[in-house]
Amino acid sequence: MRLLITAGPTREHIDPVRFISNRSTGKMGFALAERAAARGHTVTLIAGPVALATPAAVRRLDVVSAAEMLDAVRAELPAADALIMCAAVADWRPRSIHPVKLKKREMSATLELEPNPDILLTVKPAKEGRLFVGFAAETGDPLAEARRKLESKGLDLMVANDVSQPGAGFATDTNRVTLLAPGAPAERLPLMSKRDVADRILDRLQTLAETEKKRD
Ligand code: PMT
Repeated sequence: MRLLITAGPTREHIDPVRFISNRSTGKMGFALAERAAARGHTVTLIAGPVALATPAAVRRLDVVSAAEMLDAVRAELPAADALIMCAAVADWRPRSIHPVKLKKREMSATLELEPNPDILLTVKPAKEGRLFVGFAAETGDPLAEARRKLESKGLDLMVANDVSQPGAGFATDTNRVTLLAPGAPAERLPLMSKRDVADRILDRLQTLAETEKKRD
């Protein structure tokens, strides 16, 4: 398959030196790209700002903001059979970006924000026969929220992360996830390395692709 994978955070700049972002390191998305390429898939990896080396045989495109990530996903989607949105996209961005560093005395105590576009929802009309996989990093009731996002974003598979669990979520080398698909029972995976989680996700993706093929 030709896989389009996003990884890492996005950065929403206030001025050239300050930004809003989150704790994503890109480890989960890069593990997916690495395992997918090792399994013989053709992989394009759209990466937010991270400090990781590009996995072997992976084509990497670097972006900074959610708007740039959306542009890259739009441009690359026509050549992909599946999109895996592992990136932690910032939900909000400053209403304006100052072209030069703001002096402390020029700044106000409040920052005016506007919502970023939802990448999955924006490209949903171009989904056609492609498989879409999402991730949800949640605390509290992760499965209910992940199932809601699976349905509202029209996904084929959702990877639910309870990021309040030790060893799971942001910045760790391990993860503990539950795989949710429409009409299928939840597949709860134990704590394992992000590479092994990647393999389990890719196994499910392959099964979904085979089911789609039989339907055609
Ligand atoms: O990078 P690591 O340090 O290894 O950490 C991995 C991770 C915790 C970032 C990853 O496993 C993960 O859970 N990524 C999703 C983070 C998240 O909380 O997503 P969300 O619930 O905000 O969004 C749900 C889905 O919609 C995601 O697939 C997201 O990529 C997508 N999305 C979100 C916002 C937006 N504007 N556009 C989107 O397409």
